[in-house]
This record gives sequence, C-alpha cells and structure tokens, in this order.
Amino acid sequence: MKRVLVTGSSGLIGSEVCEYFSRELGYAVHGVDNNQRAVFFGAPGDTRWNQQRLQRELRGFVHHEIDIRDRDAILRLVAELRPSAIVHAAAQPSHDRAAAIPFDDFDTNAVGTLNLLEAARRACPESPFVHMSTNKVYGDAPNRIPLRELETRWDYADPAYAHGIPESFTIDQSTHSLFGGSKVAADVMVQEYGRYFGMPTCALRGGCLTGPNHSGVELHGFLSYLVKCNLEGRSYTVFGYKGKQVRDNIHSLDVARFMAAFVDAPRTGEVYNLGGGKDNSCSILEAFAMVEQMTGKPQVHTYSDQNRVGDHICYYSDLRKMRAHYPGWDITQSLESTVRQIVEAWTARAR
Ligand SMILES: NC(=O)c1ccc[n+]([C@@H]2O[C@H](COP(=O)([O-])OP(=O)(O)OC[C@H]3O[C@@H](n4cnc5c(N)ncnc54)[C@H](O)[C@@H]3O)[C@@H](O)[C@H]2O)c1
Repeated sequence: MKRVLVTGSSGLIGSEVCEYFSRELGYAVHGVDNNQRAVFFGAPGDTRWNQQRLQRELRGFVHHEIDIRDRDAILRLVAELRPSAIVHAAAQPSHDRAAAIPFDDFDTNAVGTLNLLEAARRACPESPFVHMSTNKVYGDAPNRIPLRELETRWDYADPAYAHGIPESFTIDQSTHSLFGGSKVAADVMVQEYGRYFGMPTCALRGGCLTGPNHSGVELHGFLSYLVKCNLEGRSYTVFGYKGKQVRDNIHSLDVARFMAAFVDAPRTGEVYNLGGGKDNSCSILEAFAMVEQMTGKPQVHTYSDQNRVGDHICYYSDLRKMRAHYPGWDITQSLESTVRQIVEAWTARAR
C-alpha cells in the first residue's frame, strides 16, 4: 500500500491532503503535527479539533506528535516509514507574527524544511516531495508593477501581468517580512534538492489558501477570519490600501488535487504559483460585500492607514504553468462556493 507522510496534518492544507490521499487515492496516511499553531496564535489557532476529526474519520490515519524542528525524530520517522510521497505543509505561516518570534519562525520554516528534505534524501530520494511555499517569496516586488485603481479594487495596469504573477518574477531585493525570508530559504532548498540531487521536488508558492477547515485568526487566514468576524459581529481591521488590496483565493481541495497530480507525474526542482488566479481574486471590500450578502449581517470594520509591512497591493497568480504541466488539473471551486463553505463551517463549529 502506498504511504504518504503529511506534515502540518492538522492545519488547513495538511488536513485536506490527508483526506484526499486517503479517500480518493487509497493511501495510508501518516500525519505530523504538534499543534504549534496554538502556540503561534493562542487558543483561536488551536488545531486539535481537526486532528481529532481525522483520527475519527480516516481509516488507518496515524498521527505523529512530532515537532519538525526535532531533527532526530524526523530522520527516524522518515527512515522507518520510507513514504512513497511527502507533502510538507507544516509552518509558521504568518507574515506579521514572524517579527516577534524570529527564531521560532526560521527554525520551523527553513530548518524544519531542511530536516525533512535531508531525511527524504537519506531514506526515500525517489519519492515525490511537495513543499508548500508562499507568494511572499516575491516580497513586495509585485507592488512595483504599475496599478490602476478601480471602484472596489486595484489591478495591474501593465498588460504583461494580465494573467497574473508568473514563476519567473524576481524573488530578490525587496521587503519580504521575516516570514518571507524564512520561506525563501526553504523554497530555494527544495529546488536545490531537486536540481543538485535529482530528487522529484516542487515548491508551491501559495496565494491565499482557504477553505472550511481553516482555524482563521487575525494574523493568518484572510477569508476564514473575515467570515468569522462577520458572523460574530466582531470588527475586522483593514490595513491600508483603501481596502482595495487584491488576493487570489484557492480552495484547499484544489491545492490537494494539484499535489496529487504532481505526485502522480513528478518533475524535478519545480516551482509553481498556486493560487486562485484572477477569476478567484477579490479585494477586501469585495469580500465584505460577498459575505454580507451570504450571511445577511453587516461587516463591522475599522480602517488603519498603515498597511502591513511588505503587504501586496494586488496579487494574483498566473496559473498557466500549472495548467501546461498538468492539463488534467484546474480550479474546481469558485470563490463564491468557497466562501459559502467557510460560512457554513464557522456556523456549524459555533453550534
Ligand atoms: N493559508 C494560506 O493562505 C497560505 C498562503 C500561502 C502559503 N501557505 C503555506 O501553506 C502551508 C500550510 O498553511 P496552512 O494555511 O495550512 O497553515 P495552518 O497553520 O493551518 O497549518 C499548519 C500546521 O502546521 C503545524 N505546525 C506548525 N509548526 C509546526 C512544527 N514545528 N512541527 C509540527 N507541526 C507544526 C500547525 O500546528 C498547523 O496545524 C504553510 O507552509 C504556509 O506557509 C499558506
């Protein structure tokens, strides 16, 4: 039986991957998570509920309570399991949180990734290794693209970016946040284990990854947190850019489907911009309007003139490379359907 090792298995992406590989592809699934999200973000970031859901619902799911910073434990686990695929989705995922916890951030994102890559090279170098990277590896360089201001959003004025940001965009000489820096280190190491050692690795530079199983908090999980605020009548703070900043949103299921496509036909040392693309993009103002329409509740919010350091004004992913390499894959979950699922999930969790 094929075995997949998923790190960050209690989180948004990890849990979706566990479900998809178990239910749809028949893999035996081993998850690694130590609920570090609750340490990073406090009780609202707790992911134990999701771990318990997987243990309850997925036949044969094995949870490993391991910190990916624990090099010996990771080397041992991968040597024992020799998984046929590794999906690495454990991380300190917040742009803003990283500045307060630089050692935890770098040790988790950069060194944790190295631990996994080296463990894979020693035990199962032929197994596809999929790494969740981020569009923050581009730093704030996308903000240099000339923009036009529309009524509810910013958009690229340069037709060269009509399809969004391609993988060839520079990752150098811009402000990344410490989080962006630690993710660059991991992203480059993932590419290097592909290019230098010939391993089937890829780094997926995520836009806004979202879905009903996110434990959204102010510092991470844009749509999930926004919906939660709406439902609870809590004020959502908009940081700069007139609320017209644009994010492209991709449902975690479409992320898992792409990972499965890569595992099925892996390439070496690849990078992909994995987001919802222009069709699934929205500004914060547009997200407010969509959620208000679904819940019938007004979105209470405040506005702060100060944008987040290094925050993108407009970002959507160019999906053409993914579609060209994996023509069987495409976005299946529209933005509207995704937001509806998030509304339903928070409503159910509040019961
Ligand atoms: N959600 C997004 O919008 C987004 C966007 C771009 C990239 N990403 C990337 O995708 C990946 C998954 O993000 P997510 O949204 O699922 O995050 P998440 O916080 O929901 O899940 C990450 C999981 O990893 C676990 N974890 C963290 N540190 C750990 C450690 N040291 N040892 C073991 N487990 C640990 C956490 O407890 C959590 O359950 C991350 O690499 C993140 O940077 C996410």
